[in-house]
Amino acid sequence: MTIEQQIQDWKRERDAVILAHYYVAPEVQEIADYVGDSFYLSKVALDLPQQTIVFCGVGFMGESAKLLNEKKTVLMPDLEADCPMAHMAQPEEIRKIREQEEDLAVVCYINSTAALKACADVCVTSANALDVVRALPNRKILMIPDQNLAHFIAEQVPEKEFLFHPGCCPVHQEIRLSEVLDLKKAHPEAPVLAHPECPAALLAHADYVGSTSGIIRYAAEHEAREYIICTEIGVRHRLERDNPGKKFYFPATSPVCRDMKQVTLEKVLEVLRTGKNAVSLPGEQSEMARRALEQMLRLAK
Ligand code: 13P
Ligand code: SF4
Repeated sequence: MTIEQQIQDWKRERDAVILAHYYVAPEVQEIADYVGDSFYLSKVALDLPQQTIVFCGVGFMGESAKLLNEKKTVLMPDLEADCPMAHMAQPEEIRKIREQEEDLAVVCYINSTAALKACADVCVTSANALDVVRALPNRKILMIPDQNLAHFIAEQVPEKEFLFHPGCCPVHQEIRLSEVLDLKKAHPEAPVLAHPECPAALLAHADYVGSTSGIIRYAAEHEAREYIICTEIGVRHRLERDNPGKKFYFPATSPVCRDMKQVTLEKVLEVLRTGKNAVSLPGEQSEMARRALEQMLRLAK
């Protein structure tokens, strides 16, 4: 029996469903029941009949799924697969800023620990940050921890005053502008599609800025035959599968999230067989973090 067949058998045995982010390896995306960006995956988890969710992604994604589905078991194929950005802001520094500022909303990127979400008013993902920030009544917005996403949103909401945090995604931060400009020279007809975790200097050259799902949708809905893609290499799988005949160019130093790539078929099978690596979170903190996630789901379109 192939490993894929064993996974399907154990999934039935355990009454489990598999969710995967676009950045995990292609073979893991292929065995998943649902593949998507952070926003889609947080919503889809709400309506699943299965009792167990296997989350093929990094730690904050499994935590968010657990926060929104308290009674379900959420299994992580690799507990060490963690997003470095999720740890870049500290609850204590956020509490201090809150004490100093009036009419402030703390807006926390979903790529954060539950402890950080717990000190925020609302969470956002790259797909809904603009809608959520616009819907907030507060005049001042502190966006944590991703400075690139925060600056991208701030530019589009000039009526609010923004405070920034210096966090960033090391994978997107390191995409070199010179490599993107080289690609533009070589393929002048190709639109540049970029994730808002990229630095502002790069986003200035983008024809479209959006979440991984947004980038995939854009490429499917537009006529161009080639595209320059500024995000993690994992999206190549879906882009090529959905768009036979179209070409996708990534920066020469290809952007790879090592943590997302820790998720393998062997580890998916192992957690299904053993039930190990279940996400568990402390009570009081979970309550506050859940509130911030639920507020996101209410305000996002
Ligand atoms: P989205 O899933 O919102 O596109 O974000 C990308 C990301 O960095 C997830 O870790
Ligand atoms: Fe974190 Fe960046 Fe990896 Fe996403 S791509 S999980 S933000 S390190």
